Amino acid sequence: MSVETAIATTPAATSGLRIPGHLAVIMDGNGRWAQARGKVRTEGHVEGVKALRRLVDLSIRYGIKHLTVFSFSSENWRRPRDEVNFIFGLLHRFVASDLATLIQNNVRIRIIGSSKGLDEPLRRLIAEVQSKTANNTGLELIVAFNYGGKSELTEAVQSIAAEVAAGRLKPEDITEATVERALYTSGIPDPDMIIRTSGEQRVSNFLIWQGAYSELVFVEEHWPDFNEQVFLRALDEYSSRNRRFGGIESRSP
Ligand code: FPP
Repeated sequence: MSVETAIATTPAATSGLRIPGHLAVIMDGNGRWAQARGKVRTEGHVEGVKALRRLVDLSIRYGIKHLTVFSFSSENWRRPRDEVNFIFGLLHRFVASDLATLIQNNVRIRIIGSSKGLDEPLRRLIAEVQSKTANNTGLELIVAFNYGGKSELTEAVQSIAAEVAAGRLKPEDITEATVERALYTSGIPDPDMIIRTSGEQRVSNFLIWQGAYSELVFVEEHWPDFNEQVFLRALDEYSSRNRRFGGIESRSP
């Protein structure tokens, strides 16, 4: 089915499209979107939140089970203090304005990343949104905040090393499953597709273990311009991929 046909019909009728169980998104280009319009960078982030709402709605409508979004990377601390504070404030505002709707829509929220550098109110907020949505059974929205793949793996290695040092685990018993259990994403299936907006073609320390076999889809649009048409184009691209996971037989995404 072509993307145009899919737009004209309901999601239920988009049978030609394969829907990833887990979609991950690098929401890039807020700053460039704003600068191109003579606006300050933070206005791009405000529009970015609107695009995130659209993505959550689309994910629910199209039956995606897990959606991970990269909201603040451990490298984003290098930005001007004002911008960092603004993005932190956005997380508070997003939760304050959208939590009731997310609960109503049966969305479960999980926030992954390091708690280092997060102040006490933010830690409380994270605990609160997770516990208030823990029993929801619909879309799982995973917000990667203060997240970096290398630091996630480093923390995992530290916790596994502590188990070994305590005599509870033998080095030879460490398996891929041991590592997976020690990651922030423990229990979440690996992403089937990672979309990055804004034309950059790299993963930038996002889900580097989990994304080993993810299909990467790069789109030119800046994040604030993300909409159903871009989403369907990415799904169309994903549907055309031949996933072999290192083998020779093709598997459906
Ligand atoms: C990338 O654009 C975006 C970010 C680093 C921040 C992402 C935040 C949002 C999309 C808003 C939603 C956030 C929360 C906390 C709910 P960029 O600033 O790197 O753009 P550039 O590459 O053009 O500079």
